[in-house]
Amino acid sequence: MLLHQQTWIDVEQYLKKSTGIVIPIGSTEQHGPNGLIGTDAICAEVVGKGIGEAADALVAPTISVGMAQHHLGFAGSMTLRPTTLIAVVRDTVASLARHGFTRFYFINGHGGNIATVTAAFSEIYAETSLHPAGNQPVIKCKLRNWWESSKVKAISSVLYGGSEGSHATPSEVSLTWYAYPEAVRKMTMDPPVAPTGTFTDSADYRRNFPDGRIGSNPGLSSREAGERLYKAAVQDCADDYKAFVAAA
Ligand code: NI
Repeated sequence: MLLHQQTWIDVEQYLKKSTGIVIPIGSTEQHGPNGLIGTDAICAEVVGKGIGEAADALVAPTISVGMAQHHLGFAGSMTLRPTTLIAVVRDTVASLARHGFTRFYFINGHGGNIATVTAAFSEIYAETSLHPAGNQPVIKCKLRNWWESSKVKAISSVLYGGSEGSHATPSEVSLTWYAYPEAVRKMTMDPPVAPTGTFTDSADYRRNFPDGRIGSNPGLSSREAGERLYKAAVQDCADDYKAFVAAA
């Protein structure tokens, strides 16, 4: 159930049976020679929507632009500053909390969001800790990376092993191809497996990773793999969501 396809009356009804909500969060940034700019937002959105269906949960609009300053050396990439993303996450949670939502399950598609979203959660908790009335009703936030599901990792490691890498991975590209068949672009990568290493800003990133990939070979992507990864991620994350919402 997508929040933006409900009426306010539907949402009031939903809140009588659950105060949990799934919030997809991704990024809009280059994903190598054959990956879509929206890869991270698409992955979070499709897995989030799947969790909503599997767990009968409401799914908020996707936060599609994330913390991706290091990708700005490549055309089409966008970023929010960490401080801006913290503000976006805080206002998203505060808006929904005002109506009675208490469990905020962020399904994440972008590694670069982790530090900033975690800092945003600390800001939210700092506010409740500093408030004399405390955290009432008890608000909890969770960040879950779709690719860290144990079922997903098992599939990725068998299919891709040392070619999975950490950016523009064949797993995430496959998942977007499953969601959007028209996006399929079969390509041979040169070198097959991209270099690995560290980076600071966008110029440093482009110097170290000239075609945008890190340690990956997205030339191995396929729709079939994407379908398997999608099902695995939804299964694991829907169970995780249900446990998160049920916990005190
Ligand atoms: Ni990505």
